[in-house]
Amino acid sequence: LTASLTLDPAFTVSPVRRRTFGSFLEHLGRCVYTGIHDPAHPTADADGFRADVVDLTRELGVSTVRYPGGNFVSGYRWEDGIGPVDERPARLDLAWHSTEPNTVGVDEFMRWARTAGVEPMMAVNLGTRGVQEALDLLEYCNIESGTHFSDLRRANGTERPHNVRMWCLGNEMDGPWQTGHKTAHEYGRLAAETARAMRMVDPDLELVACGSSSSAMPTFGTWEATVLAEAYEQVDYVSAHAYYFEEDGDLASFLGSAIDMDRFIEDVVATADAVRAAKKLTKRIHISFDEWNVWYLHATASKPPTDTWPIAPVLLEDHYNVADAVVVGNLLISLLRHSDRVRSASLAQLVNVIAPIMTEPGGRIWKQTTFHPFALTSRYAVGDVLRVELTSPVAPTAKFGDTPLVDAVATRDAETGAVAVFAVNRSVTEPLDLEIDLRAFGAIELVECVTLANPDPHARATIDDDGSLVPIENPDTKREGDTLRITLPPVSWTMARLA
Ligand code: AHR
Repeated sequence: LTASLTLDPAFTVSPVRRRTFGSFLEHLGRCVYTGIHDPAHPTADADGFRADVVDLTRELGVSTVRYPGGNFVSGYRWEDGIGPVDERPARLDLAWHSTEPNTVGVDEFMRWARTAGVEPMMAVNLGTRGVQEALDLLEYCNIESGTHFSDLRRANGTERPHNVRMWCLGNEMDGPWQTGHKTAHEYGRLAAETARAMRMVDPDLELVACGSSSSAMPTFGTWEATVLAEAYEQVDYVSAHAYYFEEDGDLASFLGSAIDMDRFIEDVVATADAVRAAKKLTKRIHISFDEWNVWYLHATASKPPTDTWPIAPVLLEDHYNVADAVVVGNLLISLLRHSDRVRSASLAQLVNVIAPIMTEPGGRIWKQTTFHPFALTSRYAVGDVLRVELTSPVAPTAKFGDTPLVDAVATRDAETGAVAVFAVNRSVTEPLDLEIDLRAFGAIELVECVTLANPDPHARATIDDDGSLVPIENPDTKREGDTLRITLPPVSWTMARLA
């Protein structure tokens, strides 16, 4: 079986957006406490942040980090998390049935973001709160001095403004599980008025309205249309969230998850553009895909026992296998090929909670299988996304019908001439040959070709293993004139670099 991929530097989708490689830190389970923050850890800094987590965050190549939620933000009082730590109140966190100690708040997060070299992306609470509290937080973060909240920030030890550019107007407000859940019309009005007021403080903010929590939501489509009918002029992005998992042993359909992501993105684009047409505007709304990942929604605990309100319980600690990493790599391929409209994305989440990075409290740190495709794509997807021509054999899947077995995208850095191809083989059983037509590039050589695969696609990396579940050099590559042929093992993710 053979797939073919034709590349030409003349045909591009858009520049690679660095914000495609964002992630997410929520006050949820052990993501913040005993995740990034663990004062008892030997590498902890003065704020209690683990340096080893910062190092892996950098190695992962994370660009932006969304904070502090997630469902958590819809009941959050940001003022609880500022000032002297020992005077901060503990609160009930209704979203995750936990106790929030508020040891980490906005100033600590901003210091962590600076140390980790990531851009902060803040979310405001539009569940239990509204316009005023969003303005207060914006004033605290972005105003230099001379007002109540900016001077409070300075009194709390941060002289210069945090200068946060990107703001999410609430989180998943379409979901009945959300504290302060709203109808599309109620939310659209609130988002528009919050955005309008925030822009009175700073017209250049980049603002994200909540789209749908998944393409399977009963309100998907009408939610976006209604919210944007209210808020189109005031916002820059609409969000999209999607989580995938292997159901009932149907690995073939699970491997096709990027098909759902492709359709989801294209449907949101169509809906936003329809609102634009009706309003006779030229401005286009882009997508902030600010939660995406593999998440075995029903397999790991997502709430502690109802008679307890623990601090930092073990929640959503999914343990990923090779197939999960292949799907993560494929979802990145989908995000990249839509870079003209998907201008920001966040892998949910960063540490311990459905995460590529895992920590032991006070102890070791380790990488899940999903770490590798993300880190390599973030490092080597540079320059422009190419508009590729791909033909692939297909096979039937229960969820998606006839499904192309190979999916791929490519990038090219016009400055260096470096080309990177990212590809997956979604066949459960068959190796496939991928023939890459390089004739448009002239002289170009293969630099490396690495593949992540395993005879057992359900094999998982563990804290104690031998480190073998990582991408390794693919020995089955052959150059014939202008064609590069790579054999892709079943259930695999591959990166080929040329220069
Ligand atoms: O990422 C975990 C949760 O998934 C987030 O809190 C919520 O926004 C989504 O439902």
